[in-house]
Amino acid sequence: MTFTANPRRTRLAIAELAPDVLAPSALAPAEHAGAASSRATAPSPRDPRAWVREIAELTQPDEVVWCDGSPAEKQRLLAQMVDAGTLIKLDDAKRPNSYLARSDPSDVARVESRTFICSEREEDAGPTNNWRAPAEMRQVLTGPDGVFAGSMRGRTMYVVPFSMGPVGGPISQVGIEITDSPYVVVSMHVMTRVSPQVMDLVDGGQQWVPAVHTVGAPLADGEADVPWPCNDTKYIVHYPETREIWSYGSGYGGNALLGKKCFALRIASAMARDEGWLAEHMLLVRVTSPEQRQYHLAAAFPSACGKTNLAMLRPTIPGWTVETLGDDIVWMRPGPDGRLRAINPEAGFFGVAPGTGVETNPTAVETFTHDAIFTNVALTDDGDVWWEGLTPKPPAHLIDWQGNDWAPGSDTPAAHPNSRFTVSAAQCPSIADVWEDPAGVPVDAIVFGGRRATNVPLVTQATSWDHGVFMGATISSERTAAAEGTVGELRRDPFAMMPFCGYNMADHWSHWLAVGKGLDADKRPKVFQVNWFRKGEDGSFLWPGFGENSRVVEWIVTQLDRARGLRTDAGAVHSPVGLLPAKGALRTDGLDLTDDDLAALFDVPAEAWLAETALTGEFFETFGDRVPDQLWAQLSLLRERLGARG
Ligand code: GTP
Ligand code: SPV
Ligand code: MN
Repeated sequence: MTFTANPRRTRLAIAELAPDVLAPSALAPAEHAGAASSRATAPSPRDPRAWVREIAELTQPDEVVWCDGSPAEKQRLLAQMVDAGTLIKLDDAKRPNSYLARSDPSDVARVESRTFICSEREEDAGPTNNWRAPAEMRQVLTGPDGVFAGSMRGRTMYVVPFSMGPVGGPISQVGIEITDSPYVVVSMHVMTRVSPQVMDLVDGGQQWVPAVHTVGAPLADGEADVPWPCNDTKYIVHYPETREIWSYGSGYGGNALLGKKCFALRIASAMARDEGWLAEHMLLVRVTSPEQRQYHLAAAFPSACGKTNLAMLRPTIPGWTVETLGDDIVWMRPGPDGRLRAINPEAGFFGVAPGTGVETNPTAVETFTHDAIFTNVALTDDGDVWWEGLTPKPPAHLIDWQGNDWAPGSDTPAAHPNSRFTVSAAQCPSIADVWEDPAGVPVDAIVFGGRRATNVPLVTQATSWDHGVFMGATISSERTAAAEGTVGELRRDPFAMMPFCGYNMADHWSHWLAVGKGLDADKRPKVFQVNWFRKGEDGSFLWPGFGENSRVVEWIVTQLDRARGLRTDAGAVHSPVGLLPAKGALRTDGLDLTDDDLAALFDVPAEAWLAETALTGEFFETFGDRVPDQLWAQLSLLRERLGARG
């Protein structure tokens, strides 16, 4: 087994920097929050209208439009984008009010190598983030020769006030995104709560996050636009201490919808560290047992590793119900009842299309039957969409995601592997009635997962909170198409937050330990790890996955019952890596699964695990002395249980 090296900081070529270094931007608050360790308070509120004027002066748009999030605004922008060739309207009978966008072929996923965490001190970004000194980066972005200067010429600048979480809720946060992309505006309508009410909160003094986005493609006088403007140079920049986001050059997903990864994960994780809460790359579900008991599970899987699927799970075992609360991001904080309370800060799903189909995720398919935006999927001859896995049999002819004719048997996929659907969560048939409760739901279990062909059992329970944090910190997963890089390559992805933690990852582990410690033992969520992706010797998945994952959910929930004394049967046995289901405790009736397959799903090969623990040690070393002692202790306990000598 090999891991790829940690993403290394890549230095900006000096030539990319403008010659004279600017004083800290006029847009930054005078008082910089210093180091993370000083537990900075939020920057003082700036005047949002003055800020909008400054950005307009900097970027030089033709006009400035304040957005209100209304259906009329959305319709107007959709129609405008159809006229411009950015969107294709799908057949209104087959897929009402739905659209297809084809991005530039160079702008199809998040760009982690161009994503920067600009904390004052490099060690506060940590070894897993690209770091630049804020003053240097401000020069590159907003200095006189910076990339933002004049970047919106010939375009309209939209001002989008949005809330992450129900507007005004105790766990919610607000921001204002400035963008020159109407595609981003309509996507923000779906993915966040865009509302003039947000301005009331901002004007009332609430902390808000300024987020500036440009596609980086100014138009000269009379120059014709292209359907998907973007720039080969990209910057996805975060100033965690001043809570600012600057995004340049991409119109795609997490690069451009700044409420999502940039705010709700990178900036929010830094806020959460300072304020005692958690911002995580997780789905959120409510599970109801045949006894009508309810449980809430939050699960962290890396990008394109099954969050949307588990969020919309249709149990195959009788009597169980799973309801959806969120599929990508969870904000949690200890509530007045002493339990961890969680909300989904988003209002929609930006889900992976390929592999999402009538057989694997029928709930998602029902969700996007209308009022959906599809990006980089294929177009059918009758004006509908298709992608690999939507139906078992492809149509005889398609127009692929790049606009070319396509037929089954073609060398290239019809849809881009990271093609996506954008749809309101309210349209989801399995959405829980409490999904917009501003107070959130109490979390009973936290689940970590990844894509692992080997070693990692189908399900494991952590024996303690510290062990659970160790599990989260040591997650590795095979790369997917959600970001640039080689698909299939194994990489570390602690807490599924490798690309999304806005501060030093080792501090994130300390923070998790501290949050757990602050909860009473009986109110602390139990921690589990799952792996749907283990493969047999023939290279095929051992576990059927999808709806059958309900069997694993059932075991998790029965373990919660046992911990509460609601069941007395034996649920688990110890293994070196944690608790595994006792014989018969995981329901496998009706599955086409041999005893050998089952054994292979739970095999813990000591030698391979010991090799992995050695690499974990090396990984921890990259964080120097910031790795909490508890995690080093967990690593040596694991090595002992695996029978390590010396
Ligand atoms: P992001 O939106 O990128 O954060 O990803 P996500 O974690 O929400 O991923 P999603 O649920 O959309 O799944 C991505 C891919 O994993 C899809 O192609 C699914 O078909 C596949 N997948 C999901 N669950 C399972 C499973 O249980 N077994 C197998 N084999 N594949 C799965
Ligand atoms: C992910 O990559 O984890 C996503 C898609 O959820 S994006 O919004 O593009 O980051
Ligand atoms: Mn995601």
